Amino acid sequence: MAEIYVAHSKDLVEGSKVFFQSDVGELCLIRANNLFHAFLNICPHQGGPACNGLLIHRVEEIIAEDKTYQGMRFHERDLHVVCPWHGWEFNVETGRCAGDGKFALRRFPVTEKNGDLYVTVK
Ligand code: FES
Repeated sequence: MAEIYVAHSKDLVEGSKVFFQSDVGELCLIRANNLFHAFLNICPHQGGPACNGLLIHRVEEIIAEDKTYQGMRFHERDLHVVCPWHGWEFNVETGRCAGDGKFALRRFPVTEKNGDLYVTVK
């Protein structure tokens, strides 16, 4: 088990990412909704660099009370990272694939100590 210093929390603005190396491969630390999340930068689909993709809010359909379709909008909170190879989307808080919850990015715990961010790799 290794605890890796990554960055100071004040240096990461909302939606920013930091890539760094570990014994298990390249990891990515993402700041989303003022929380920090770390993932192995390998997509469970075909091994692409999933965390290199865009961060976008989850798209949801708007259905009225009479069940009619009213269009789409971005979810206020749920943020996804989109793998640049084939577009699979992953929730940045859970790592779960939006299209198929059986798949997920590998997550690692993030600890903040006096503003310094550490990722624990097991
Ligand atoms: S490798 Fe990520 S979507 Fe295919």
